[in-house]
Amino acid sequence: MSEFAIIHASLLTMGDRGLIRDGAMMVRDGRISWIGATNELAYGGDTVDARGGLVSPGFVDSHTHLVFAGHRAGEFDQRNAGASYQEIAAAGGGIKRSVEQVRAASTPELTQQATRHAEWLLANGTTSAEVKSGYGLSLTDELRLLEVAGGLEASTGLAVSPTFLGAHAVPTGTDGDEYLAHVLHDMLPAVKQQGLARAVDMFVEDRYFTPDAARKLAAHRGDLALRLHVDQFGDAGGAALAVELGAQSADHLEFTGEAGIRALAASNTVAGLLPASVAALGRDHYANARSMLDAGCRVALATDFNPGTAPYASMASVMHLARLHMGMTAMECWQASTIRGAESLGWAADRGSLELGKRADLVLWDVADPEEIGYWVGVFPRKVWVAGNLRVSR
Ligand code: NIG
Ligand code: FE
Repeated sequence: MSEFAIIHASLLTMGDRGLIRDGAMMVRDGRISWIGATNELAYGGDTVDARGGLVSPGFVDSHTHLVFAGHRAGEFDQRNAGASYQEIAAAGGGIKRSVEQVRAASTPELTQQATRHAEWLLANGTTSAEVKSGYGLSLTDELRLLEVAGGLEASTGLAVSPTFLGAHAVPTGTDGDEYLAHVLHDMLPAVKQQGLARAVDMFVEDRYFTPDAARKLAAHRGDLALRLHVDQFGDAGGAALAVELGAQSADHLEFTGEAGIRALAASNTVAGLLPASVAALGRDHYANARSMLDAGCRVALATDFNPGTAPYASMASVMHLARLHMGMTAMECWQASTIRGAESLGWAADRGSLELGKRADLVLWDVADPEEIGYWVGVFPRKVWVAGNLRVSR
């Protein structure tokens, strides 16, 4: 259908018009061409009757690692029996385990599994996602991961923003400085030359990469955006570092203190919060979302979907965690999961809210009120459209 209408919906616009009860909208050529009240719509073509359901913007999941092979469910059990993430990593598990799995997988196998993950996200109402590499840690494997990520949009419909995360961990048997030089001088130029990523990222943390390494990455990034994993296990000044380097997004921030929050609030860097990774690590030190929001930070929520720390494909479940553990309201969660996610990826002019001219990335939910999403657990969308194309229908 290049043109259709949705009627009798509660439209959660996330724009100036707020929530429109008994609303209607029209979609033409993949974009929103009209929004108003159902009784004002004069249109006799293809029409979807929402029957009082909620129509929201598609979720923009601004932080995922969805291209990987296999799973690490065994580590989940190890942690639940008392082992820490760091202990498991030191014993050869963690990111390095996923790297072994990726290197052993053929590209068709990786594509098949990434397709399955992209379909999980879509089924949960996510229409745009950032997808990081980072489980290859060699030139060929990192390029392979980015190629798989870049192909997902055409095969599944999920809009993908690929991010090069070669600096996710130092591969086994390699010197850290040598590996960083390889990332900066071999991998990054190849990624740029082949146009495989919109952004670069680094895991800045004790035993992974240092703030100085992040400065070098920033200096070499060219016109790619900078995104950073910071302050996940301790406050190492990562938030202020991200601001200093003009990062588009600073993610995790579980241990970011007042100084980092002030720096973020005074910047354009989006604060990307990932409560699923806290929950699934069996930890209880969530990011200080309340202080961040009260200070005026631009807060995004994301799944961090990955086989180690965040086996969550559902943004609604992330909203649930944010309301339960981070003192965020339902509407703060909606904002953080739609328009802020879009801002985090430099896509806010085009998506993240239901406004005239924006992409028709739409989710129809079988609930009447926005507060019900992130409250019920296990509620799936009835329909999901990406750029006006129906991708999920139940
Ligand atoms: O965002 N923190 C670093 N990277 C991922 C975890 C990756 C893994 O354990 O596989 C994260 O939590
Ligand atoms: Fe991550």
